Amino acid sequence: MRKKVTKAIFPVAGLGTRFLPATKSVPKEIMTLVDRPLIQYAIDEARAAGIKEFIFVTSRGKGALEDYFDTAPQLEAELRKKGKEDLLEILKNTNMDSGAIAYIRQHKAMGLGHAVWCARRLIGHEPFAVILPDDVIAAEKPCLQQMVEAYEETGGNIVASMEVSPDKASSYGILDIKEDMGSMVAVRGMVEKPAKGTEPSNLAVIGRYILTPRVLSNLNKMKVGAGGEIQLTDAIAAEIEAERPVYGYRFRGQRFDCGSKAGFLQATVSFALAREDLRDELAAFLHTVTAEQKAAQ
Ligand code: G1P
Repeated sequence: MRKKVTKAIFPVAGLGTRFLPATKSVPKEIMTLVDRPLIQYAIDEARAAGIKEFIFVTSRGKGALEDYFDTAPQLEAELRKKGKEDLLEILKNTNMDSGAIAYIRQHKAMGLGHAVWCARRLIGHEPFAVILPDDVIAAEKPCLQQMVEAYEETGGNIVASMEVSPDKASSYGILDIKEDMGSMVAVRGMVEKPAKGTEPSNLAVIGRYILTPRVLSNLNKMKVGAGGEIQLTDAIAAEIEAERPVYGYRFRGQRFDCGSKAGFLQATVSFALAREDLRDELAAFLHTVTAEQKAAQ
């Protein structure tokens, strides 16, 4: 039996500059897709995968995130008084058991690898998951759950992956494929943000990882990589060099890049269309605006 994955790290220290001015006072992770903040999607996915301990790597100005997962006594009392049981039920999902959630500060923006390293003492010697809340994945079976199941078979380090168009490869961590087994890929190497034309494939790392604690030891070296930052990709690639297995996992589902405005809008439309209470009105609206746009061309 493999050790169960019960801890997940959520790197949420980024400034979210692509969404200024909104992110001047609201953490990016609190921005809403339909009616749930981005971070709630990540938490729900982690819960479905059996995660019991949630570790947030935050930074200055992320207080709203901490409040989001706290109880809201005044609001709850008000709703109870008014008999709004349905809304109280919705709020329940945002509460965390005492001790299930931890916040660690990353004091300097030194890269994703550094953010993950900041949580090392809370991880200890266990396998752990990393979820980047910017990557929202709509899937029948939540992506991390798919990966936990794959991990139970193979162990090792597993990174979510999907093919991206070659002109986008330089925005991602890219896998060098040793053996393609369909949904699983054995990895020979990994490059963070390869220069255009040098990418070993167009199979990109997407923000879900199941990692062995050795990756944290690799991060101790503080090796500076792409963009002058300490890269998680490099610390995982160091495992391959040490002849320990790393796999890419082609998940089933649709990924939205909510770190970009276009991706965020696409996710909003797609999630709203999946909702019974919004679908008809939104579909009719989209139909009209696209027809108007076509007519104007
Ligand atoms: C991060 C990772 C990169 C990965 C990407 C997925 O990059 O460093 O390897 O492909 O997330 O979204 P970022 O988007 O933070 O630049």
